[in-house]
Amino acid sequence: MTGTELTPGTEWWRTAVIYQIYPRSFADANGDGMGDLAGISARLPQLKDLGIDAIWLSPFYTSPQRDAGYDVSDYCNVDPLFGTLDDFEVLQRTAHDLGIRVIVDIVPNHSSSDHGWFQAALAAGPGSEERARYTFRDGKGKNGELPPNNWESVFGGLAWTRTTDPDGTPGQWYLHLFDSSQPDFDWDSEWVREQFRAVLRFWLDRGVDGFRVDVAHGMIKAPGLPDYTPPAEGGSMGGAPASALEPGISAETPLTAPYWAQDGVHEIYRDWHQVLAAYPGDRVLAAEAWVDPLSQMAKWVRPDEMHQAFNFAYLETPWNAPQLKSVIDESLEAFGNVGAPSTWVLSNHDVVRHASRLALTGDNLQGHGIGPKTVGLPDTVLGLRRARAASALMLSLPGSSYLYQGEELGLPEAVDLPDHAREDPTWFRTNGERYGRDGCRVPIPWEAAGESFGFSTGEKSWLPQPAEWAGLARDQQNGVAGSTLELYKLALRLRREHSLASGTVEWIDGFGPEVAAYRNGDVIVVANTGSASIQLPAGEVLLASEELVSRTLPGDTTAWLRTVQP
Ligand code: NOJ
Repeated sequence: MTGTELTPGTEWWRTAVIYQIYPRSFADANGDGMGDLAGISARLPQLKDLGIDAIWLSPFYTSPQRDAGYDVSDYCNVDPLFGTLDDFEVLQRTAHDLGIRVIVDIVPNHSSSDHGWFQAALAAGPGSEERARYTFRDGKGKNGELPPNNWESVFGGLAWTRTTDPDGTPGQWYLHLFDSSQPDFDWDSEWVREQFRAVLRFWLDRGVDGFRVDVAHGMIKAPGLPDYTPPAEGGSMGGAPASALEPGISAETPLTAPYWAQDGVHEIYRDWHQVLAAYPGDRVLAAEAWVDPLSQMAKWVRPDEMHQAFNFAYLETPWNAPQLKSVIDESLEAFGNVGAPSTWVLSNHDVVRHASRLALTGDNLQGHGIGPKTVGLPDTVLGLRRARAASALMLSLPGSSYLYQGEELGLPEAVDLPDHAREDPTWFRTNGERYGRDGCRVPIPWEAAGESFGFSTGEKSWLPQPAEWAGLARDQQNGVAGSTLELYKLALRLRREHSLASGTVEWIDGFGPEVAAYRNGDVIVVANTGSASIQLPAGEVLLASEELVSRTLPGDTTAWLRTVQP
């Protein structure tokens, strides 16, 4: 392992706060407007200061960037856009020396169509061993002119693209649950399985502490690839209806979708579990699996499979006390039943940032997210207030929490990007009907001064930053009492000091239906999701998401109190 040995054998991931870095948008050291690994290394001390335990890096591997790096053309190298393998070594050593663990992304459902494996499959032709590594099929219809089935891409449009044979005639079709540049592997292939074991070992040998597994519920498809019509909302990542996610990544998809949550995926993770277990230290697998209900998702984290799964049910829950209480109970029970910690998450690079999402109203709440047709954009003041309260609640909960870069600054979704700047394939595949996810991927502001708010040493950032983000820059919040950054720092420090992450939830009634209040060890947490003020119970106020006047907790505010000893 490179860098400092972190304490092994502690199952650190059960209580960890894991900070997601989206490399394109975190920090740019070479001035080309795109974030890079050297930029991340330089900023790690600020994450140490924030108080996180680990970082998760979204993909930085060689890629044509058709899906912002989730289209990998070499799993064991760094894209020149982000640096070199040496830069990765420096990043990891710097992180480990600071006591920060490093989780990297792995994208096993599909590769880039530029990957040598896919190019070899195209060249080798139907029936070849190379084609058996991906999901090629003959088309239907007289001349194979119709797709093999009716599946739709998560990003819009058909999930199949027809190939052209070397002589120019139309050939077989290949499956891509995402963009046409992301062909799906066929995980029935033992060759594919062996390649991915090797990829895991490549990064484990370099000392990574684990993997976030992309589309961890999608790798196995039902035999015969039967037709399937998802609910009206269109393409879906699976899971239950969300209130305000980017459209298309959640829907009322029954568990029978023949491309999601098939039993065969579990054999793959049992195998990967063994690969990780052969390494010293606590290496982890974290599932991106949009599976409902939570009791079903818990299958991904049975003791011999993965260690964590993103709790998207929590992310999808509106700012509403009864619903929050019920999803918290359900999460602790479902994950607890299989001996896994619950995770908690409010934002990531695929969803509308929670400082905007929690203030969406009406129609926008019904799974339409923010798009060109959105009427009534979220109120940013209300959104930030709710986001601070929601984060304060989340960070008090037992288990492991995920943060997405910029939420500690209270960044909202960037809702008015110029169309010419958009890069998300969803935007292109839906002919501009859906914005996609660029609005949550805008480079983050470090300093109020300068063209790109300290993000880049050059002048521009790859997506334009809203002018008002100057006021949210880290240097404007650092050390400023009451800032969102200081709220996060305080929450992370108290969470550690009071061992909240390894505690329990004991609900306290009596504050009315709009309040979620509970005891975790010697701390009482009171989250007021309504608009009317309530009286706080006895106890010293340790943290409040808004300034308190006397012992009143206003609406959309969360407070932590130290319990009074009898
Ligand atoms: C989930 C990732 O989080 C998302 O960004 C990506 O587009 C899809 N998987 C496809 O890899």
